[in-house]
Amino acid sequence: MTRITIPRPDDWHLHLRDGAALAAVVAFTARRFGRAIVMPNLRPPVTTADAARAYRERILAALPAGSRFEPLMTLYLTESTAPEEIARAKAGGVVHGVKLYPAGATTHSDAGVTDVRRTFATLERMAELGMPLLVHGETADPAVDPFDREARFVDEVLAPLAERFASLRIVMEHITTRHAVEFVRSARDGVAATITPQHLLHNRGALFAGGLRPHYYCLPVLKREEDRRALVDAATGGEPRFFLGTDSAPHERAAKESACGCAGMFTAHAAIELYAEVFEAAGRLDRLAGFASRFGAAFYGLAPHRETLTLVAAPWTVPASYPFGDGQLVPYRAGATVRWRIDAQDGT
Ligand code: DOR
Ligand code: ZN
Repeated sequence: MTRITIPRPDDWHLHLRDGAALAAVVAFTARRFGRAIVMPNLRPPVTTADAARAYRERILAALPAGSRFEPLMTLYLTESTAPEEIARAKAGGVVHGVKLYPAGATTHSDAGVTDVRRTFATLERMAELGMPLLVHGETADPAVDPFDREARFVDEVLAPLAERFASLRIVMEHITTRHAVEFVRSARDGVAATITPQHLLHNRGALFAGGLRPHYYCLPVLKREEDRRALVDAATGGEPRFFLGTDSAPHERAAKESACGCAGMFTAHAAIELYAEVFEAAGRLDRLAGFASRFGAAFYGLAPHRETLTLVAAPWTVPASYPFGDGQLVPYRAGATVRWRIDAQDGT
């Protein structure tokens, strides 16, 4: 197949940042996706309905003229998020989820949760109001091996939480292991997961190929080949619990190419094209539309787009970098080839 048309896809997990960084990256997502769930890990974090509304306005102002892209906002859950704030967010209509970061687990997570029990009253209200909980699923305990942090979190925190709050809608974000795939598959209704392109395309060998590769460092970190295969099975299996979330997370070049490099891979410039590569390699391009355009919308109670997006198999070379405020952004696959591209007539 050299051409595929799908309903316009959505990105159910995205970092857009703010200010000059936001202005530098938002058009990449808006060109491909109709909507995106926008992560709240700014500094300071987006912890209130008012802050989410103001951030949404800044995103809309940064969009290219004529764009119909719709940012779906999230709140950053802290131990002092009041149940009433959830009610305000629900009533305001722009907040579509609340993000749980275990404190210390990843970029800008220090305001996150140290003990999930301290959030139980708020989670209860979320369950009542139908507000989804979006989870960074890793234990932050430095004593736990980095490659085991997801499995430990699933067993010790997430599985009991899903049982305790039986009607809470939960998205385990950016799953990276077979263990997480099996948990999500066998969990009760209302539990789903997003999967990134990098975790479908690479195992942890990419971090060490011929030297240390900071542009392949993200959290949760890339895992074993058997985990990657389990993720490809889940994404291409036509199972509605698994849907697209890029976790595209831009950092300036110097912050990545550093003695202590930031976690995050920027994939928004080629996101749907990269997923098409994965589905093509699995012989399942026919299932891309479910994963990219239908299952996530259904989980969030939204209609899929009527508008379509066409991809053509016509390789292109990714630039070495893009402008990023005063600096540079090194995109995933910089200087190398991406096989699919967006059809010219769908380019706006
Ligand atoms: O790699 C990551 N980057 N993982 C996260 O959880 C956060 C993100 C970021 O904000 O840079
Ligand atoms: Zn993320």
